[in-house]
Amino acid sequence: MNAVEVKKDVYWVGVKDWNLVEFHGYKTPHGSTYNSYLIMDDKITLVDGVKHYLTDEQLARIQSLVDFSKIAYIVVNHVEQDHSGSVPALMKLAPQAKIVTNAMGKRALEDHFDTTGWEYVIVKTGDSLSIGRRNLEFVTTPMLHWPDSMMTYVKEDKLLLSNDGFGQHYCTDALFVKDAKFDVVMREAQSYYANILFPYGAQAEKALNTAGDLGLDIEMIAPSHGCIWSGEKEVSAILAAYGKWASGKDEGKAVIVYDTMWGATATLADAVMSVFQDAGIPVVKYCLSNKDVSEVMVDFLDAKYICVGSPTLNNELFPRVAAFLTYMKGLQPKNKKAFAFGSYGWKPGVVNNIQAVFEALGWETVAPFEEKYTPKSDVVEKIKERVKEMIA
Ligand code: FEO
Repeated sequence: MNAVEVKKDVYWVGVKDWNLVEFHGYKTPHGSTYNSYLIMDDKITLVDGVKHYLTDEQLARIQSLVDFSKIAYIVVNHVEQDHSGSVPALMKLAPQAKIVTNAMGKRALEDHFDTTGWEYVIVKTGDSLSIGRRNLEFVTTPMLHWPDSMMTYVKEDKLLLSNDGFGQHYCTDALFVKDAKFDVVMREAQSYYANILFPYGAQAEKALNTAGDLGLDIEMIAPSHGCIWSGEKEVSAILAAYGKWASGKDEGKAVIVYDTMWGATATLADAVMSVFQDAGIPVVKYCLSNKDVSEVMVDFLDAKYICVGSPTLNNELFPRVAAFLTYMKGLQPKNKKAFAFGSYGWKPGVVNNIQAVFEALGWETVAPFEEKYTPKSDVVEKIKERVKEMIA
């Protein structure tokens, strides 16, 4: 794939990672892309690098448009290595280029690489940099999702180069959302938010408000992962979705997550689900033996009720449930109502470990429930009563 013009004299020079199956623990069934943009103005500006093992591809796309000696600026919106991995190679080829980043970005670059001789333009929210016919404006978005994260707005093109924000781990031939499968893009955008940005809803709301305060007129959002949002329908859809996800408002849904050894916890999970179904509450049920945690987390975004079940193995939580709880706790979902349940053979108590996670997250809970060996019909009725207590 050659460099592609996305706006007049603004080119996509990124790379596609078709074979990516996971991104630091987050399963990526559709691969990913690391997008980078070259702005051909009086001062030629590259925005963002790519992951280190695809550096040569990015370099070839840039070289098809311009000699490296002509690049004036390299904007580093974010130092995580999927976007900065190629920066050292770029700086070797274009030592005259100045790195444009914020103070945290400079520090992070110095912590990652040998930056000897690199020159910087340090920016903050509201700063503007003229590159000729265009002005770049910057919005720092600290902890969305790293301290250094920032977005670059190209005023004259009404183009927001949003880095991780509005991204999707989605590799496809289509460069624009309008040419891709819209439902798949939206689902991957939701998954990206749930698995990467979930803990930072307040920061996301603040960034959206800052964009509004600065009066950014956005016609195109070009993230550094996945497809580009162009056209009013697409841009409005992703902005509205982010507004909703960042607000933390749920849709009253229930999510049941469990694993099972000999079917006891599965029987309890079925009983839990039947209460939600009888009450007309939308419910999804995931057994961790065949669902990855990153897929489960997507449903947490709009869930009100969370029920987690585990068998007891060697006096501990079942390992897949423990792994799920560790991952989920790190993403810090807020304002949930929760219920822990499970089964044991001879020593009860592991459900308290689930309960402890709920309490650490500050969720509202009902008393945990656990049963010895196989739940009989009277036990099934008892657990149903506990769930009814939660939704009352
Ligand atoms: Fe796509 Fe935070 O890196």
